[in-house]
Amino acid sequence: MDINRQKKLFDKQAKKYSKRARNKTPDHQWREKLLRSASGRILEVSVGAGTNFQYYPRDTSILAVDFSPSMIEKAKETARKTGRKVEFMDANVEELDLPKKSFDTVVSTLSMCAYPHPERVLRLLSQWCKDDGRVLLLEHGLSSNRIFSKLQHVFDPLVEKRIGCHINRDILKLIEDSPLDIDRIENSMFDAVHLIWANPSSPH
Ligand SMILES: C[S@@+](CC[C@H](N)C(=O)[O-])C[C@H]1O[C@@H](n2cnc3c(N)ncnc32)[C@H](O)[C@@H]1O
Repeated sequence: MDINRQKKLFDKQAKKYSKRARNKTPDHQWREKLLRSASGRILEVSVGAGTNFQYYPRDTSILAVDFSPSMIEKAKETARKTGRKVEFMDANVEELDLPKKSFDTVVSTLSMCAYPHPERVLRLLSQWCKDDGRVLLLEHGLSSNRIFSKLQHVFDPLVEKRIGCHINRDILKLIEDSPLDIDRIENSMFDAVHLIWANPSSPH
């Protein structure tokens, strides 16, 4: 999909994401569990409306990136409401040029579904993370359940067109093929949702 069209699609959804940031939808329990492992200087890519801010330990600092101006506006509101000091960048993550090895924690939640080149983004996440840092991921993708995965393949084109996300990406395979090393993983919802604690590791 053309990037400007995708940006507009996400701009239109900013209000909905902002509502979800405030209400305790089921994903909040996963976010809380994963993000308590964050520390130090955090990079959060594709921040959306800033749902994760409330779950970061208070002694952390955050750089948040997104290419949707409306999402960033909502994330700024969330930062104010949650009393978090956040630096924002309006940028395409795939084209982002940040210093290598400069973050203690790199976070992506529900964003690998959106990039045209998720393998490129996973490589970048590993590069931006310090050698002794952590990459924390909450991602959804192709289920290991035969019936569920068939439905995901059938509905993927429609979902991409309507909301700009893919629902049938093999996230675990993408991570396996990336430089990241998985330390711990928890799967839910017929293996379609993954909580992943990884390190930037292996230079390949
Ligand atoms: C499904 S939403 C998830 C938002 C947030 N991470 C969360 O967990 O609620 C995907 C977000 O990624 C952003 N996004 C998608 N592709 C992007 C790109 N190439 N560069 C920057 N932001 C992107 C969208 O604007 C949107 O805010």
